[in-house]
Amino acid sequence: MLIRRRAGWEIPESQATPEAVFLDRRQWLAGGAGLMAATALPRDAAAQGPDPTLDLYPARRNAGYTLDRPVTDEELAANYNNFYEFGTSKDVVAAAKRLPTRPWTIAIDGLVEKPFEIGVDELIRKVTLEERLYRFRCVEAWSMAVPWTGFPLKSLVELARPLSGAKYVQMQTFMNPRVAPGQSQRWYPWPYTEGLTIAEASHDLALMVTGIYGKPIPNQHGAPLRLIVPWKYGFKSVKSISKISFVAERPKTFWEGLQASEYGFWANVNPEVSHPRWSQASEQVLGSRERRPTLLFNGYAEQVADLYKGLEKERLWA
Ligand code: MTE
Repeated sequence: MLIRRRAGWEIPESQATPEAVFLDRRQWLAGGAGLMAATALPRDAAAQGPDPTLDLYPARRNAGYTLDRPVTDEELAANYNNFYEFGTSKDVVAAAKRLPTRPWTIAIDGLVEKPFEIGVDELIRKVTLEERLYRFRCVEAWSMAVPWTGFPLKSLVELARPLSGAKYVQMQTFMNPRVAPGQSQRWYPWPYTEGLTIAEASHDLALMVTGIYGKPIPNQHGAPLRLIVPWKYGFKSVKSISKISFVAERPKTFWEGLQASEYGFWANVNPEVSHPRWSQASEQVLGSRERRPTLLFNGYAEQVADLYKGLEKERLWA
């Protein structure tokens, strides 16, 4: 299929994938061997049965979020993923199926009135799901446009009741090397961790995502709960979240822990600030021959630029 072959436009992964700089050949081989052994295990989470929130889909589309380009073909988006827990290629669908996504609990802790745990289905039924069309721009210079289903992250912030000392929201992916063989590769700083300031997390565009294309989200896209922050590079949009902590200090994020010179905390999209190894001026739209000019804040500048007033001295762009 088209997506399995490298199209002429693609940046070779050796140049563009975030991991390429720091992995030496021995690590690659060791990682690959571990991956194959673990994928051969018989257990498959597909036996879980239908999603318990299926009745909530498709959710009402919020007409306030429109696109300047066609929606990406569902099959293409679903087969071109970054999910390092399940391998470093874009082809993680089969490996990610091994992740059991029910029961699934999210721990809310840190600087909150009262730490608690909540089952993902209970959480989803406490909020109102809606569908939004968003652009999505990966730091590797490809992009897509997708109908996500979810709820504003700010409603989760309200539910958590953070204390005044909380300045950041840190989000972590599950940790289970038995089902996610990538997590056995110890040179990565697992679990995958991301973070936003409270102001960013309270911005209306920051979405907790539970579905895509009018259905519950499939594992490779980050089931059962992931973040989408469309004005930032895609690596900020952490998948399969199991813990949300309200903290006073800026969290050290996964990619920053790995290669701080290339991936920082803010990671706002800016066509004028190149990645150290490639330009960010344009992007390859998935499923098209077209390269489009990349937009400041991925086209959301009008909505989010104010968040960064007074922060001009920070490394806001990568
Ligand atoms: N979250 C986790 N836990 N692990 C990952 O490897 N990759 C990130 C982000 N979230 C990643 C993750 C990157 S680099 C991108 S571009 C997006 O997920 C890809 O999302 P998609 O596969 O749904 O398109």
